[in-house]
Amino acid sequence: MSLSNGFFDIPQGKVAAVVTYLQMFQRPPARPGPSEESWSLQKADFSGLEDYRLFFRRVGQDWLWFSRIQLGDDELSQILDNPRYETYVLTVSGENRGLLELDFRSEGEAEISFFGLTSDMLGRGMGRWLMNRALEIAWSHPIRRLWLHTCTFDHPGAVAFYVRSGFRPYRRQVEVTDDPRTIGLLPETAAPHVPLII
Ligand SMILES: CC(C)(COP(=O)(O)OP(=O)(O)OC[C@H]1O[C@@H](n2cnc3c(N)ncnc32)[C@H](O)[C@@H]1OP(=O)(O)O)[C@@H](O)C(=O)NCCC(=O)NCCS
Repeated sequence: MSLSNGFFDIPQGKVAAVVTYLQMFQRPPARPGPSEESWSLQKADFSGLEDYRLFFRRVGQDWLWFSRIQLGDDELSQILDNPRYETYVLTVSGENRGLLELDFRSEGEAEISFFGLTSDMLGRGMGRWLMNRALEIAWSHPIRRLWLHTCTFDHPGAVAFYVRSGFRPYRRQVEVTDDPRTIGLLPETAAPHVPLII
């Protein structure tokens, strides 16, 4: 496919992000980092879909994560209840502080479909701790490939963090979508690093 060079207007009410896909084909060595006794990771046990959505928003709202928020109950349950879809929460002294979702629905591979911490936990080494756990869990399954994607709405250090984790970028896309803040999925105050244009 060819695409001419240049600047392209994004229509009013839409947003555009550059998406980077990264992958690895073998388990890398764990990277050193801090670890606290109070940090633990367990399979999520949300009391219902609203509880899940609330925590998903807490982690992802400021990075404009909306894909799960736009799903109805049936569609969302179909994903979360699939035995080949694993949702984990990182807790600190029993409080949810990080979200990890691993998708094993495609034979022989896994996707880290969501990976993030609540904003108060950033920059303390907890992301590294969570990635070490994620790699341990993913590679304990019979997979040949582990992949994920991240976009320019995500934390500015995310791509470099994933590269240090052993992932290699292999594909780039531009995603254009309705601005989730203008269609009522997220509050207008979400993600100030992606200013709302109205
Ligand atoms: C991506 C994300 C999980 C990374 O977590 P983070 O808190 O920013 O990064 P960390 O502090 O854990 O790690 C950064 C590095 O600093 C190191 N570090 C941080 N604090 C440290 C400390 N107190 N002592 C020693 N090392 C420390 C880590 O070990 C790590 O080193 P490495 O990458 O060289 O191995 C986090 O930024 C996040 O949740 N962002 C919001 C959601 C998001 O954008 N997710 C990605 C989209 S898919």
